[in-house]
Amino acid sequence: MNSSNICFDLNTYLLNFVFNKSHSLSLFQNKEDNTKTEYIKINGNNVAKYINEFWTSKQRMANSLHEVSYRACFKSQLPRFFIQLLTGKSDIVYDPFSGRGTTVIEAALLGRNIIANDVNPLSTIISKPRILIPTFAQIEKRIQQINFKEDLKADIDLSMFFHPKTESEIVSLKGYLENRKKKCQEDNIDLWIRMIATNRLTGHSKNFFSVYTLPPNQAVSQERQKKINLKLNQKPQHKNVKKIILIKSADLLKDLDSKKVAFMHNIGRRSLFLNHDARNTPEIKNSTVSLTVTSPPFLDVVRYDQDNWLRCWFNNIDAKNIAKKITMSKNVHQWSLVMADVFKELYRITKDEGWVAFEVGEIRNKKIKLEEIVLPLGMRAGFKAQGVMINEQAFTKTSNIWGVENNKRGTNSNRIVIFQKCS
Ligand SMILES: C[S@@+](CC[C@H](N)C(=O)[O-])C[C@H]1O[C@@H](n2cnc3c(N)ncnc32)[C@H](O)[C@@H]1O
Repeated sequence: MNSSNICFDLNTYLLNFVFNKSHSLSLFQNKEDNTKTEYIKINGNNVAKYINEFWTSKQRMANSLHEVSYRACFKSQLPRFFIQLLTGKSDIVYDPFSGRGTTVIEAALLGRNIIANDVNPLSTIISKPRILIPTFAQIEKRIQQINFKEDLKADIDLSMFFHPKTESEIVSLKGYLENRKKKCQEDNIDLWIRMIATNRLTGHSKNFFSVYTLPPNQAVSQERQKKINLKLNQKPQHKNVKKIILIKSADLLKDLDSKKVAFMHNIGRRSLFLNHDARNTPEIKNSTVSLTVTSPPFLDVVRYDQDNWLRCWFNNIDAKNIAKKITMSKNVHQWSLVMADVFKELYRITKDEGWVAFEVGEIRNKKIKLEEIVLPLGMRAGFKAQGVMINEQAFTKTSNIWGVENNKRGTNSNRIVIFQKCS
């Protein structure tokens, strides 16, 4: 779809949408194909809810570049659906709560210009290098040049996670990266290595630096890891940090050829990565963004600060300071106050006829329907509510079992509120 096609009728499109079943484990097989509709009354207006299988993780495999774990991330098929439908080449796609950068990476792969924001600087650390991508040969050469010392110890006790030799390799790498940064010599190859190392610190398979622990987006405390080690009768073994970085680099790069890498660089040069509160992003000019695809922090379900303490240590980020900035609302009222201001800011930066796709999770056993909270917030900011999409997918093994309240009944559903700025 072209950005100039401003009269695009999303409602008709969604109503007539028929999923291509050959790709899916469709829930809707043997039922009527078309979208099911319900209506919600908000401020006297009927807002349509469209229920169908609009995309699925089986539909087309995600680009390998996305395979970086992050708590409560969405799958790339979600932003892809909206980017392809609602924007054209070179339009600006934005995510104010960017996390691992799923929206902006998918947008860049599709040739859109991008703006990412997340109050946690780790978000930039793990997403920007996947736009300004080095070649595998550059990574290999650089990693071999880094001098790994023996017998270095971290300034905190990490013995429950790492073999002493691995710890020394990690501390050497941390020191190398700090030094390059201090001397303003850090380039996109260093940033790539930093991103991979940040993601390989701890995890649940052999290609992580640590002994067996929870998946990488949920670093456990030192005390908890000691208990895991006792329970599993395990001791950290030596892991080859350089080798693991190269293995993961090859994995991430496997779907990209040199043409695509150059293409992404071109987009990267025009991109913006911010670390602000989403309510205040002065670098983004008025009426410039064609589409926002985002999922906000959900009430108090996820502790991004606790999950990321070790990643923050590696990157010299003050986790406590970040924790203070991250929105951790105790109740829906508090959450709504923050999101009301987020919508005001989104309204300011969205261009006329531009769109917002705002994904809300299912929380507290589905008792709270966040879409019904979000709809009036967006409308009060000036947006027109174009509907709520419920994407129902059959449960697959690849579904995000660490996500927020998903998959309880063998289905994985995303709920997305869609707004448009109509003058
Ligand atoms: C649900 S996650 C987004 C995940 C993202 N969709 C992805 O695929 O990786 C929410 C993000 O919001 C960030 N965040 C929390 N409070 C924020 C705020 N007030 N302003 C900007 N970002 C915030 C968190 O750091 C977290 O990365």
